[in-house]
Amino acid sequence: MIDLHTHILHEFDDGAQSLAAALEIAQAALANGITVVATTPHGRAIPPANSRYSVALLRERFAELQAAIRAEGLALELVAGTEIYGEAQAVDALQAGRLLTYGTSRALLLEFPLEISRQAAAELIFGFQVANYRVVLAHPERYRFVRHDPNTLIPLIERGTLMQLTSGALTGRQGDQMQRMAKLLLRHSMVHILATDTHGPHLRRMPDLAEAHAVAGELMGADLAARLTQHTPAAILADAPIDLPTPEPIRRWFGFWYSS
Ligand SMILES: [Fe+2]
Repeated sequence: MIDLHTHILHEFDDGAQSLAAALEIAQAALANGITVVATTPHGRAIPPANSRYSVALLRERFAELQAAIRAEGLALELVAGTEIYGEAQAVDALQAGRLLTYGTSRALLLEFPLEISRQAAAELIFGFQVANYRVVLAHPERYRFVRHDPNTLIPLIERGTLMQLTSGALTGRQGDQMQRMAKLLLRHSMVHILATDTHGPHLRRMPDLAEAHAVAGELMGADLAARLTQHTPAAILADAPIDLPTPEPIRRWFGFWYSS
């Protein structure tokens, strides 16, 4: 399986706090059935004073971790990227090389502040798309506008935005309410990949893609589970075409979203 969202790089953001912790994540990823991990630390166009983010430091940590993984004889492949904070200057920063797409692809991982409006999110996503980037939206299940009305994802999906559901939302690790939303989005074809958003042992957020893969398989069948954890992530890294299923609107009944 391929995990396109992790904070495995050590001493960089709120992810792995040491190289030893990063290696612990790498071992846990392999044990979890993951063979490719994207390293996606939080990055902003203009990093705030409390951020260590720079592409130079990202590349340095990446090289250190890759060397350590090889020295341990672990068969885990790393792909560099940034979890890009959605803001007006981000497209310019990406084009200038201050933020990263996944590896050599035109695809990027984008996150927003949780309270962002639907309109602002749509405009920022569109800004990347008109610059010919493929947008993977990190954890759509967490945004207020999605929790308020999950169908707001449909026009974004229709424009080719890929939705990354967090494995812990689907397994129930993030609570019942989040799991209900995760399952609803999945059943209604509004999820395109699963990823762990692993932060490391200090936050007890370790790789759990196999568990989420199993829940997705029970709910939607083995083929879809494989698409979410292997085929679509591979297509993202390769800039290959992806056939997106048509999302089905979720109906609302007395204030509750439910599956038809
Ligand atoms: Fe993240």
